Amino acid sequence: MILLDGKKTSADIKEEIALEVAELIKNDKKTPHLAAVIVGDDGASLTYVNAKVKACERVGFESTLIRLPKETSEEELLNEIEILNIDNDIDGFIVQLPLPDHINEQKIIMAINPDKDVDGFHPTNVGKMALNLPTFISATPFGILELLDRYNIKTSGKNVVVIGRSHIVGSPMSILLSQKRKIGNATVTLAHSRTKNLPELTKQADIIIAAIGIPEFLKADMVKEDVVIVDVGITRVADASRRNGFRLVGDVAFNEVSKKASYITPVPGGVGPMTIAMLLKNTLMANKKND
Ligand code: GUN
Repeated sequence: MILLDGKKTSADIKEEIALEVAELIKNDKKTPHLAAVIVGDDGASLTYVNAKVKACERVGFESTLIRLPKETSEEELLNEIEILNIDNDIDGFIVQLPLPDHINEQKIIMAINPDKDVDGFHPTNVGKMALNLPTFISATPFGILELLDRYNIKTSGKNVVVIGRSHIVGSPMSILLSQKRKIGNATVTLAHSRTKNLPELTKQADIIIAAIGIPEFLKADMVKEDVVIVDVGITRVADASRRNGFRLVGDVAFNEVSKKASYITPVPGGVGPMTIAMLLKNTLMANKKND
């Protein structure tokens, strides 16, 4: 079994980006600038956004963190987005999801200028992605493609089962892997909560992308020998033995599944760090487009 080391791979990508940024600065070009908006004080979301901002600093980007209270109205958030849309210094920005219940997430995503939508969530960018046209691919599926590529894992003609149909991960992942592209050309099954006989499907899979958000959902008796496992899940599970009171658990029962897998991502240190690296890559792309 080989660990798909997202921490190491993302560090390599960040190093490549840092070199490009140094080159931009040397040539008197604009420094890439990412802004992140977060509404409320959800602990996990704050951790993710802080990690994104810190990663910007590491590669030499400028970053702006906009923290808004959980009572922020939809209109106030839309105003904030309009400011970022027209600010020429901001190359790209993200609005961290989920948003509080009183804010319509879709309305917020639709308000983002697609040219600055480095999350790739705007319908214009989702549409372009679905048509295999150049665009911002959302960071988690983009990171998974990159991780498979850097470990030379072949997907062409393989049976892939994606578990979970979220707009952020499962749905785009299933589209991308079925497309005619380097990491693609797979026969993809998108499984979800209404899927019948899931183990029958997963036992046929050469590659499984688990993105369902249920800790340790995928067990060893659901997979075949030498399967490639990508675990997108990252749930905080209470653990009194930890100083922070929780541990992070993926969608895969790692201890048992790793015994059968040829490749597997750890949690943490697999998909998570790749997501951040690809957000930086998208921001660099936005910076080049605005040049
Ligand atoms: N919430 C969980 N993942 C993401 C992501 O990739 N981007 C944003 N904006 N919110 C998220």
